[in-house]
Amino acid sequence: PQSAMEGQLALREELGSLHGIPLYKCFVEGWPQVETFQARPDDLVIATYPKSGTTWLSEILDMIYHDGDVEKCRRDAIFNRVPFLEMTAPGLPSGVELLEKTPSPRLVKTHLPVHLLPTSFQDKGCKVIYVARNPKDVVISYYYFYQMAKIHPDPGTLDEFLENFMAGKVAYGSWYEHVRGWWEKKQEKQLLYLFYEDMKKDPQREVQKILQFLGKEVAEETVARILHHTSFQEMKKNPAANYETMPTALMDHSLSPFLRKGISGDWKNHFTVAQNKRFNQHYREHMAGSDLHFQME
Ligand code: A3P
Repeated sequence: PQSAMEGQLALREELGSLHGIPLYKCFVEGWPQVETFQARPDDLVIATYPKSGTTWLSEILDMIYHDGDVEKCRRDAIFNRVPFLEMTAPGLPSGVELLEKTPSPRLVKTHLPVHLLPTSFQDKGCKVIYVARNPKDVVISYYYFYQMAKIHPDPGTLDEFLENFMAGKVAYGSWYEHVRGWWEKKQEKQLLYLFYEDMKKDPQREVQKILQFLGKEVAEETVARILHHTSFQEMKKNPAANYETMPTALMDHSLSPFLRKGISGDWKNHFTVAQNKRFNQHYREHMAGSDLHFQME
């Protein structure tokens, strides 16, 4: 049965536009509240292009903030523990409203491109951790996410979705501009730039990088507990981390689970030889002149 709340959200609606970036219409409507958001100096921003490991990094950081206490990290769903800054939907508390009620130090999730991050974060000198993932795995993950999360328009065929992704005609716009924009701001900001592929390859090293960036020291056993609790298998079965508690009308896990595969290189099971060739060509053109490199496997 549909709740009143779910009834109010228009499903499968075309995207609107936020300063030229394709975005859900309800987020665009809520933008004025986001733009003037008041950051606190000890806020930590988790910034990503969608489907790049946001939830994974969020769980790792909540564990670090709670000194590896698994029970404390089950206190609520991840989307409440780490509010989504620019989220607004009819009948739901907005990201800004959730954040205003969240005690410091807060973790703040955003998918905004760097030039749209509310200025208050920089004014207050907040730290930011960005995670990037290779675009071939992002586009496949996004394709499944479009199917299960009904705030998105119908993704069409994979071939159509690939074209839209390359053209930046998906929610949050061009992956290229997103990863490059944040990469280029790396010098100016208190920014740690991570890669999903590195997190898969050596999660312990990446967690150590995060701890160093935050200036935190934790015991070796705590690091081990964090790594175990934030593994794909553990998160997949954890209702506080796997989005199962979202209303089915918004996210239908029977179409595709939120924690779907959690690997690098799944694109190989989906791209045709022709699609891969076309994607490689497009990638070369759009990454030309950048010292930002991705591992595609
Ligand atoms: P797949 O669809 O490729 O499985 P986001 O949180 O930014 O929306 O990203 C979701 C992607 O991260 C999904 O990718 C999901 O499975 C993956 N993911 C989530 N938790 C993970 C974990 N602990 N380890 C590896 N991948 C994880």
